Amino acid sequence: MAEKSVVDQVKESTDIVNLISEYVDLEKRGNNYVGLCPFHNEKTPSFNVYKDTGSYYCFGCRANGSVIDFYMEMENLPFNEALQSLGERSGIKVKHKQTNVNSKELQLIKMHEIMVDNYHNILVSTAEGKEALNYLLKRGFTLEQIKKEKIGFAPNIKDSAIQLLENLKFSKEMMYQAGLVARNEETFEYFDRFRNRIMIPIKNHKGKYVAFTARALGDDTPKYLNSPETDIFHKSSIIFNLSDAYKVIQDEKEVILMEGHMDVLKVKNTSIKNVVATMGTSVSLKQIEILKRVSKNITLMFDGDEAGKNATQSVGEKILEQKGNPYVIPLQTGMDPDEFIEKHGEESFEKYIYENRDHFIVYDAKEKLKSSKRNDLKFSEYLNHSIQLLKYIDNEVERSRLVKQISELYEVDAELIHRQLPKKQRRRGNKITFSSPSVTRVTSREFKEKHIMHTLINSKERMRYFTSNFDLNLFQTNGYHDIINKLVEYFSEFDTFDKQMFISYIDPELITCLEHIIATDLPVLEEQELNDYIQAICGISSSSGEKNNLIKEIEQAELIGDDERALELFNQLIELQKFPKSK
Ligand code: UTP
Ligand code: MN
Repeated sequence: MAEKSVVDQVKESTDIVNLISEYVDLEKRGNNYVGLCPFHNEKTPSFNVYKDTGSYYCFGCRANGSVIDFYMEMENLPFNEALQSLGERSGIKVKHKQTNVNSKELQLIKMHEIMVDNYHNILVSTAEGKEALNYLLKRGFTLEQIKKEKIGFAPNIKDSAIQLLENLKFSKEMMYQAGLVARNEETFEYFDRFRNRIMIPIKNHKGKYVAFTARALGDDTPKYLNSPETDIFHKSSIIFNLSDAYKVIQDEKEVILMEGHMDVLKVKNTSIKNVVATMGTSVSLKQIEILKRVSKNITLMFDGDEAGKNATQSVGEKILEQKGNPYVIPLQTGMDPDEFIEKHGEESFEKYIYENRDHFIVYDAKEKLKSSKRNDLKFSEYLNHSIQLLKYIDNEVERSRLVKQISELYEVDAELIHRQLPKKQRRRGNKITFSSPSVTRVTSREFKEKHIMHTLINSKERMRYFTSNFDLNLFQTNGYHDIINKLVEYFSEFDTFDKQMFISYIDPELITCLEHIIATDLPVLEEQELNDYIQAICGISSSSGEKNNLIKEIEQAELIGDDERALELFNQLIELQKFPKSK
């Protein structure tokens, strides 16, 4: 038998007569109780409470409902809070749902809603927006789509957002916290973050506006300026267009992941709707986890350049490691999906999608074989790599299909490959497995932290990798925590590190600490080295008690169908696997 929902538990354990008696004088009449209705003015009692069914009904005003409805009405509480408060009375734990956003988050979202409309109006119906609108139309976006997506334009004015929001009684501090406004840390002067840019709104998974990615009109740099990390915008867990594409992805059992927001916008206007993007090519474990829950088949369609190819390689392997099914639709050199459509038209694009999808393992083998002949020395190395990748495939049918393709590509007997794969193992339930990272011996934590910081400061790319995969609270050295937080902000605006510029972001007392980091003569770590260093300083064991508790909580959340909470907890579990959280 399924367990009772929390709502039912709360209803059953709250004595409705007792509770209502706290507000209304009740008199017993037969099996029921009557009193003067608290919801309308009356002199003779017509308000009835039924102990058996746990409900109330007023014959005068027809107010009716359960004990929770009554409590909500009387205390003027939203459902969740009423449930929680009643639960407390009878000792039932009602967990706060994440959806129960606090008022600060609501305000930040409200400000975004206002700015989305404002920027959109400027684009479509003012002279200031003319040039930007023409630019978009010339790029092949229709007015209809511009309206539907609420694309906008931020005028080249220092304080247009500030003025508008100030008139609506939002404080500058809140605007700053929303990421809509930036400030000079020396003069504390506030100014609009987005100026003279095309504004593409970003929605969270519930469809609420939480951020912008803003394209320069001309050759201004950066080409795209994004909202910084805020309470409502976490780059490593947001997926652009997921709220719109969710259903189609579920139906088609496939999601196509692209590099650019513009690409997604262009493609979703064709018959292909199951498209999403992260912020550029960095894809976090969390984002893969989220996508995988919507569809295990994740198709990568990154730009046809070196960066796109490299990202395909690393993201493809990450998906395999996380037991998803990665596919690849490669693009020709110098092409992105948007340009493909502009050059060859929608129909060719749709055809291309259907005809050029390979499983990642096949794609990888083809890529490698391009540079190697059958008798090349590298040949067996590549074949071995393919075999290693095949080991991730649990599904026997899928595995055997892939073995066949791979054996044909390498022109070897399929049996030879089969023999090198472990005998099928039954995966037990939904047990979550993690590979343990390689551990480097820790000599001095402080020294390693400095090396990591030095790397992050000197490479925006490493910094992106770091923020997508690790917790910012990782550092224990004094001052590092604050510096890293400011660095996130800094890199959301600039591509390269400039000491003078960065100093304006941090508190003066942090400067010595920063100088220390800058002064070290250490090489910038490669991604893998960086990963190893971080794993090393954190150790890989975490308190199993905490882990077990989380697993239990996940099971509970799944039981009551609270997927959102389950996912959130699951992500915490992943975090925990990475390293123990520092307090
Ligand atoms: P691209 O440089 O591939 O841009 O960046 P694009 O999508 O082709 O854009 P158009 O067609 O020139 O307008 C892809 C993604 O990388 C991130 C953004 O998320 C962008 O959508 N990016 C790129 C930035 O965050 N900042 C940048 O300066 C550039
Ligand atoms: Mn493009």
